[in-house]
Parts: sequence; C-alpha cells; structure tokens
Amino acid sequence: MDDALPLRPDSIAAQALGWIDEKTRAITPPIHVSSTYLRDTDNQYRSGRVYARADNPAFDQAEAVIARLEQGAQAALFASGMAAATAVFQALAPGDHVLAPQVMYWSLRNWLMNFATHWGLVVELVDMTDPEAVRAAVRPGKTRLVWIETPANPLWTVTDIAATAAIAHAAGALVAVDSTVASPVLTRPLEHGADIVMHAGTKYLNGHSDLIAGVLVTRNDDAFWQRLKSIRAQLGATLGSFEAWLLLRGMRTLYLRVRCASQSAQRIAEHFARHEHVEAVLYPGLPGAHGHEIAKRQMQGGFGGMLSIRVKGGEAAAIATAAHVGLWKRATSLGGTESLVEHRASVEGAGTPAPADLLRLSVGIEDAGDLIADLEQALRRAQG
Ligand SMILES: Cc1ncc(COP(=O)(O)O)c(C=O)c1O
Repeated sequence: MDDALPLRPDSIAAQALGWIDEKTRAITPPIHVSSTYLRDTDNQYRSGRVYARADNPAFDQAEAVIARLEQGAQAALFASGMAAATAVFQALAPGDHVLAPQVMYWSLRNWLMNFATHWGLVVELVDMTDPEAVRAAVRPGKTRLVWIETPANPLWTVTDIAATAAIAHAAGALVAVDSTVASPVLTRPLEHGADIVMHAGTKYLNGHSDLIAGVLVTRNDDAFWQRLKSIRAQLGATLGSFEAWLLLRGMRTLYLRVRCASQSAQRIAEHFARHEHVEAVLYPGLPGAHGHEIAKRQMQGGFGGMLSIRVKGGEAAAIATAAHVGLWKRATSLGGTESLVEHRASVEGAGTPAPADLLRLSVGIEDAGDLIADLEQALRRAQG
C-alpha cells in the first residue's frame, strides 16, 4: 500500500495492507505450511527463516496489519489470547511486582492468582478504574507491569489508560492493555501511553467464531519485545498457518463488524435500560454508566458490542431468560457475527465479581430489532 496516501484504517484493513504476490499477482496471500526452510550452500540462512516455530511467513501479513492498525512498531501472533497474555507475565522475573485489575477476564485472573503467583510473581489486584488506588498500590522500582483491561469483563468498567500509564511509568513499570473488547476500531491504547497491546484474536479481530488466536503489539522493538518473541518461539505457543490466514481474512471486515455491533449494542442497551424485567444495564455507552466520560474520550466511534443486563428476579430468572432465547445463542466467547448470551457467574464460579442475576451479551451483526424482540420475549417468558 502506498505509504504516501493518508489512508484510513478501514481501507488498510479491507485490503490487508494492499499486499500483492509479485510472482502470481494474487491479491490474497497463499498459506505457507512449511515447518522448515532451506539453508544456503555456504551454511547461511539468507531468507532469515530457519524453522516455523520462530519464523513463519504465514504470520507476516496479519502481524503487519495489526501493527499498523494499532500504530505499533511490531505485532506477534500467538496460539491463543491466553498464550499472548501469559507471555507478557512470563517475560518478567520471579519476585517482580505486578498490578492487575479486580475485574478482568476470568481465566487470566485465575492463572495470575494460581500459576503466576506460585511461580514467583507478586500479583496485586486493584481497582484499576481508580487512578488513586493504582497510585497507592504501585511500588516504585519494584512494580514491573500494570495490566489493564478496558472495557473489562463482565461489568464493562472503563479504565483511563493515559492516567494509569502516567502513574505506572513514573514508578518504572510497563503498561499492557487487554484491548480485546474495544478492538483497534474503537481504542488504540499505544496512543494513550500503553507499551503493549494484547488481543484475543479469537474475538473481534477474527470475528467469525472459528479460530483461537492471540496477538501482542509493541510500541517499541526493544529488549522486552525480543524477550516476548523468544518466549513465543521457545515455549511454542505459536499459531497454525491456516489460523493466521483465517485471521487475516476476518480482519478485512473488522471495521464494518465492530461498528455494526457497537451501534446495535447501544440500541439494545438504551432499550433495556428502562425495562420492567431488567434491574440494570451495564454498558459504557450509557450516560451515567461507570466510566462513560472516560470512554467518550478514549473510545472513538462507539462503545463496543459487549454489555450485560441484570435480570429482575435474580439468578433463576437470568438463567431462565437465557433458556428462552432463540436468535441469541447460549454460548461463551464474544466478538463473532452471531449474538451470544451467557450467565457469567455460572462460567466464573466462586469469587466471581459477576452478580448472580447477570447475563453477558455479545452483540453480533444481526438486525438489532430482531435481537431486541428475541430478548423481550425471553424476558417475558422467564418471568412466567
Ligand atoms: C478479554 C479477553 N481476554 C483474553 C481472552 C483469552 O483469549 P483466548 O480464549 O483466545 O485464549 C478472552 C477470551 O474470552 C477475553 O474475553
């Protein structure tokens, strides 16, 4: 793609950076599946590739597209969002202090509190939405990483990335942001001061609920980034070639999908915010919602496709509502074309911050009126 043209990210994503195969003139890339590469006769590897666990050409274009969309120096694909996220923590050393949010993706929180702590990281959970709580918790010279997730699962609370990054950097800590829910369409954390961005590529980047993938993006190609890439290569948390190709294909429609899901989520949130069977709607796009003013500054063009509703009548009514949906699908995950509903406390179990009456909604790209009508009838039937 011509770098002289000031292209909008929509155009970059739609053409996957405008790549053309010089040999065949193909406009979509082939899928490279080779696990190994030929060594030159003089014993060199001038191709720059030795073995696909470290250097897979199937990753090049997807990584270049994501790095460009996030305005980062480089990106690296991983086998899953969890593989990408845990790599960031594994790049630290036992004894290092890290701050993580009290409200965050449940599996990562579990890994931090069990595995990472056991391995020697000192993990402290804070209210990441409160800069004063972060300021009180950072230990200058000792805190190596502040992990942010915004909007955060499953309450969709919003963290001010710029304010948190200023506090973290003053203490000598790096800032990593799980930006899975916002996607680069709505927030570019590096522009707000983050050092690393993480995505579960499984969700909006791919967008079709047909692969598991993760990605990290770095502001700088520095020693920490090289360590992250070594962790990927050495621990072998690498994505398959076909999955990398699918991810690239999915990203061509990223902007359309995220904008559509955000518009529908806003409409659904507003519709159910004043509803006889709904106790509360949690969505950063609602005036008065937690972090709405920060979200207005930090998110551009919408507030995302994720929201939660708290159903009147408690846990039983929430589970019954999920049982009665038709168009919505009862499944975990998010960011696909199809809308999903799940009783989050059942997934997260003991210690979850998710209230028992909460249903997590991932809004897809179906007609918003159809989604509202389906949820309406499910709520009505659940209340008997
Ligand atoms: C916000 C967030 N981060 C990370 C992950 C982990 O991604 P993966 O399932 O690809 O490992 C998820 C998965 O649900 C997620 O929702």
